[in-house]
Amino acid sequence: MGKSLAAQLHKAGHTVKVANSRGPKTLQTFEKQTGAKAVDVTEVASGADILILAVPLKNIAGLRVLLTNLPASAVVLDACNYYPWRDEQITEINEGVTESVWVSQQLGIPVIKAFNNIIASNMITGSRPAGAPDRVALPVAGDNLKAKMIIMELVEELGFTPFDAGTLADSWRQQPAQPVYCTDPTLKELPGLLARADRQKAQANRGRIKMILEKIPPGFSGQDLTRVSRLLVGLDVFKLKTWAALIRMGIAML
Ligand SMILES: NC(=O)c1ccc[n+]([C@@H]2O[C@H](COP(=O)([O-])OP(=O)(O)OC[C@H]3O[C@@H](n4cnc5c(N)ncnc54)[C@H](OP(=O)(O)O)[C@@H]3O)[C@@H](O)[C@H]2O)c1
Repeated sequence: MGKSLAAQLHKAGHTVKVANSRGPKTLQTFEKQTGAKAVDVTEVASGADILILAVPLKNIAGLRVLLTNLPASAVVLDACNYYPWRDEQITEINEGVTESVWVSQQLGIPVIKAFNNIIASNMITGSRPAGAPDRVALPVAGDNLKAKMIIMELVEELGFTPFDAGTLADSWRQQPAQPVYCTDPTLKELPGLLARADRQKAQANRGRIKMILEKIPPGFSGQDLTRVSRLLVGLDVFKLKTWAALIRMGIAML
């Protein structure tokens, strides 16, 4: 996800710094592919207007090292998701704490939630100019209105329509296995899908996501995955492309 965001932000004219846990030398290919500058993790937040977190959730606590250099005015964007089979069990989230609220608590700073519900490759293939009929709308949730507006502007700039999805506590509605997850809704579709979010159903559906992700090969198209996800929430039922994607997924999973 970091790669897609870095590439699109660089393309939009932003200065982008990136860091991982293994050091800038391991990010030389990443630099060439995205135009971002790789730096040490202790330096990445220094002078930043926006700090984007896109790591497996289990590693969030390890990012406290970033906070020393984080400017007080910086907005922190949380693009992470909780996958229990990848992140180990996080009791608080299992017991109902909203994922980004947990992130905010772990780091002791406010965060804005966005970009977590779109597949990384669709960040590039799905970018559209304002007014395009198939433009994807992305939910943005957070408690500080000014910070939320900054991220909403960023969403717009990257070719998506921002939608104010409420407070950080409300962002459980855009978590994995909820109807807006990986379904790339238009602005017309998004509010209805957020309203249909259901904590209990999502808990049960996470097992389905695990099963699908384990069975499809790594290179499987993000667009096809989204087409199938849309079908599962009752969208595009009469589109030929939807059923073709379902067949391709079935074959890939064999
Ligand atoms: N992939 C998607 O389509 C997508 C879409 C929306 C949201 N997300 C969410 O975004 C997050 C990242 O997913 P991903 O698919 O991009 O995973 P990924 O391909 O495994 O990338 C994670 C990156 O985080 C770095 N990292 C891990 N621990 C770190 C630490 N302690 N300090 C600094 N860097 C660290 C990793 O580098 P090192 O291991 O070298 O440190 C790696 O470059 C997840 O929470 C995911 O659910 C993913």
